[in-house]
Amino acid sequence: MAQNSVAVLISGRGSNLKSLVEATQAPSFPGKIKLVISNRPGAPGLEIAKKAGIETLTLDHTTYGNGEEGRAAFDEALQDRLTKAEVEFVCLAGFMRLLTATFVRTWRGKLLNIHPSLLPAFKGLNVHERMIEQGIKIAGCTVHFVNPEVDDGPIIGQAAVPVLPGDTPETLADRILQEEHRLYPACLKLVLEGKARLSAGGVVKLPELECDVLSLHNPTFE
Ligand code: GRF
Repeated sequence: MAQNSVAVLISGRGSNLKSLVEATQAPSFPGKIKLVISNRPGAPGLEIAKKAGIETLTLDHTTYGNGEEGRAAFDEALQDRLTKAEVEFVCLAGFMRLLTATFVRTWRGKLLNIHPSLLPAFKGLNVHERMIEQGIKIAGCTVHFVNPEVDDGPIIGQAAVPVLPGDTPETLADRILQEEHRLYPACLKLVLEGKARLSAGGVVKLPELECDVLSLHNPTFE
């Protein structure tokens, strides 16, 4: 099996995918993106992968039927493709689809997600609107190992940004996104190097550091 072979799952724009592609192109990066899978045909992120010479695949979830059976069938197809590609780690990057507990358990400690809030606050959708509505002053993003629950799981890293007077959901999203693009490659690198790993107790262990939660200002992320 290839060493540190990564798949990225997307549904849309793919700006986080782009940051991961750029980071992994560096010869010193401890892994390579082998496959990009979208559950939506025509997702713009697929073009980013193609331009970088990365294999792409569309698994249109709407063709797998409805309900729990459809969800299980989709995840089985996903698992099949990932196994055939000999992928070892999976990054969710704007992948707008719930994964089954079976799939998540199979990838325990090797399945990462990025979310545009300081989890566990503001899980789910319409995050930026809700943050502004509630008047929070510090926003940010989180990379975490994936649990079966939505936007849940042991935190690998976080980055904080201010919410400024006059912010709209769009301006706040842009500010957070800039940090997402730095945080995700940094966290993936830590995981691939074995520096951040999931312990048996379900907590992220960062052996060389004394804290479990990192900010981008920690030199580890530079
Ligand atoms: C990002 O904000 C990410 O945190 C969230 O979905 C968005 C995806 O954006 N999970 P992109 O497709 O990576 O540009």
